[in-house]
Amino acid sequence: MVSPKTALVTGGAGFIGSHLVDRLIESSYRVVVMDNLKTGRLRRLPPEVNFHHADVSSAAVDEIFIREKPNVVFHLAAQISVRDSIRNPVPDAEANILGTLRLMHAARRHGVEKLVFSSTGGALYGNPDTLPCREDHPIRPLSPYGLGKSVGEMYLELYRQTYRLNYAALRYGNVYGPRQDPQGEAGVIAIFCMAILENKQPRIFGGGEQQRDFVYVKDVVDANILALNDEVVGPYNIGSGVGTSINQIYAMLGKVLRYRKKAVHSPARLGDVHRIILDSTKAGRDMGWQPKTGLAEGLELTAAYFRGALRRTPA
Ligand SMILES: NC(=O)c1ccc[n+]([C@@H]2O[C@H](COP(=O)([O-])OP(=O)(O)OC[C@H]3O[C@@H](n4cnc5c(N)ncnc54)[C@H](O)[C@@H]3O)[C@@H](O)[C@H]2O)c1
Repeated sequence: MVSPKTALVTGGAGFIGSHLVDRLIESSYRVVVMDNLKTGRLRRLPPEVNFHHADVSSAAVDEIFIREKPNVVFHLAAQISVRDSIRNPVPDAEANILGTLRLMHAARRHGVEKLVFSSTGGALYGNPDTLPCREDHPIRPLSPYGLGKSVGEMYLELYRQTYRLNYAALRYGNVYGPRQDPQGEAGVIAIFCMAILENKQPRIFGGGEQQRDFVYVKDVVDANILALNDEVVGPYNIGSGVGTSINQIYAMLGKVLRYRKKAVHSPARLGDVHRIILDSTKAGRDMGWQPKTGLAEGLELTAAYFRGALRRTPA
């Protein structure tokens, strides 16, 4: 019998990571998770997972590679708050730049076949000159978070050229769906869902006409799996190609959850781009990826999850 491949998922106890873990287990991988549980939750992980409570910027990384011998690595662990990256850029760089470097260094030394990096399409291009934005648009991040992801990508490219480490960097739009943290600063759909369900008035930063490219979490998981193909190398936008304003999201969720109150507006936030829409033609061409879940369906699924979550008691 052929022994199963081992996949290491950093940040596997997080929102996107835990959905990826579920898919990998369904696909018969042996799954190892490394997570410092900063925003991750152990209860999101199925019992089959080999869990290591460890930080990607610590020396534990090498020990985990020696012990677990992963064939492929999905690197999702990150400091994900744009605001925190502006307030505290040093810990952001430690996790997102040094952590990514430490991980790819271990991946190279231990002969990993593929490293799939969770990058960002929302925080990399700044306010783009052209929309939808392609991968070859200039990189002009407005925050240390965006800059750190871009440095991670540059290191990966250096490691590919120098050591032939095969990688794909997936530049996600605004990912949403079940399990997203409604207490976080990002994840506007989760935040609105929970506020509405708890009958608290949601807050919109700025006028609400700022546009984002929303992509459903299961579609992002598909992209991670497809990126394992040897021929899929370098950066790929992963978005819907459609810009949706925060005011539109508010109105759509209001319909789904039958909520009629007006939102409260607060001043716009530093580091937020005004409009971002991603062109994912390259992902379609090279890996056959396409978003399958439309926004209306994705919002229904997400709202249903949060309705259920309110009834469940967390483990
Ligand atoms: N959610 C989005 O819209 C979005 C958009 C673009 C990119 N991304 C990227 O996708 C990845 C996953 O994001 P998410 O939305 O699931 O966030 P999340 O916060 O739910 O997941 C991140 C996980 O990483 C863990 N973690 C954080 N720092 C760590 C460290 N130093 N060492 C080990 N573990 C650490 C957290 O505990 C958490 O489980 C991140 O790299 C993020 O930058 C997310």
